[in-house]
Amino acid sequence: MKKILLMAFAIVNLTSAMAQISATKALAPTPPMGWMTWNLFADNIDEQMLREMADALVSEGFRDAGYNYLFIDDGWQGGRDNRNNIIADPKKFPSGIKALADYVHARGLKLGIYSDAAQLTCAGYTASLGFEQQDAKTFASWGIDYLKYDYCHAPVDVETAKLRYKKMADALRGCGRDIVLGVCEWGPRKPWLWASAAGGQLWRTTYDVRDMWIDTVHKGGKGIMDIVEETAPLHEYAGPEVGWNDMDMLVVGLKGTGGPSSDLGGKGCTDTEYESQMSLWCMLCSPLAMTNDLRHLGQAERRILLNKEIIAINQDPLGRQAERKLKTDVLQVFVKPLAEGKWAIALLNTGDKALKHHQNFADLGLEGKYKVRNVWTHQDLSRKATSWKGTIEPHQTIVLVLE
Ligand code: GAL
Repeated sequence: MKKILLMAFAIVNLTSAMAQISATKALAPTPPMGWMTWNLFADNIDEQMLREMADALVSEGFRDAGYNYLFIDDGWQGGRDNRNNIIADPKKFPSGIKALADYVHARGLKLGIYSDAAQLTCAGYTASLGFEQQDAKTFASWGIDYLKYDYCHAPVDVETAKLRYKKMADALRGCGRDIVLGVCEWGPRKPWLWASAAGGQLWRTTYDVRDMWIDTVHKGGKGIMDIVEETAPLHEYAGPEVGWNDMDMLVVGLKGTGGPSSDLGGKGCTDTEYESQMSLWCMLCSPLAMTNDLRHLGQAERRILLNKEIIAINQDPLGRQAERKLKTDVLQVFVKPLAEGKWAIALLNTGDKALKHHQNFADLGLEGKYKVRNVWTHQDLSRKATSWKGTIEPHQTIVLVLE
């Protein structure tokens, strides 16, 4: 009897693990990509602006490069109606969210929305605790494809977090529409250990990114390098079967222009630093959510965000996050296995002076001779190389593909 019970228990566990694997594989087989409102616009959003961003995703070539989600973050909500259905702010969204979803879908894009596992969101708007099923059904009826689920005003313990995320994940699974779940508890409860089992397809690894290379003001904001430091050790937890370590939005091109990303020391970065953010987010398989103004793009940010070769590394079907193989005071080296036996290598100069470096591939575990391509200069460097030699500028990341 005991044996039969144990077997039944094992089968139930196996079935739910398999269901989770197929959910992630089906919903987010590679890291989701798109454009998100929060870090530039905060809650100053409305349907007109979102339509313009959807148009820009298409006309500027972003959709075709893979950025196919328009993510509405906090600030869209207008409370609940007399049947407790969550509603959009009628001033910001006079046509309603469904009309926006239709507009977005007609352009080959998907729509993301935002809520929180408590009564109120981080910015103080209506959230979903106690209304998980009802809200999931509402989101499905609007045609939502993705939910970012935040954790402000919720208890700090990990068990409650697991339960609250699972509750929403179960509601989404039962709502009649495929909706990706992005877990956003910022890392303190180590979501890489449980968010996938709870039903999420990605999970933020840190507190919010700011428009800065590294945090020097110590007010709680995270710079690009702070997020790399916290996410690099988590390479074993990501993949198409489980989900993705979400390193938060790409601040590429913001240049300290405002919004939440300019708080807490976010004074802006150089183009070299923005290029490094793109390189590292791609190497570490992070979801790529831009948060710039797509209607007024500069040449530099367009070049960085639309580099198809670096995006291909992020979206590689093998879905393996790069491993950091070397870290000194001035140099970090990352290695990412790619499909078809290829490899990507990133060489990052964290120092303030140009760095002359000679990297033997064998020292990274890559024996033999390789065809080497630099994905930022778009040049084939060599046909049969065993090493790379060159100068890495301060805060620059050289990214090579070996074949
Ligand atoms: C934070 C979250 C941000 C943004 C904001 C909205 O908790 O990390 O990415 O969603 O809430 O209020």
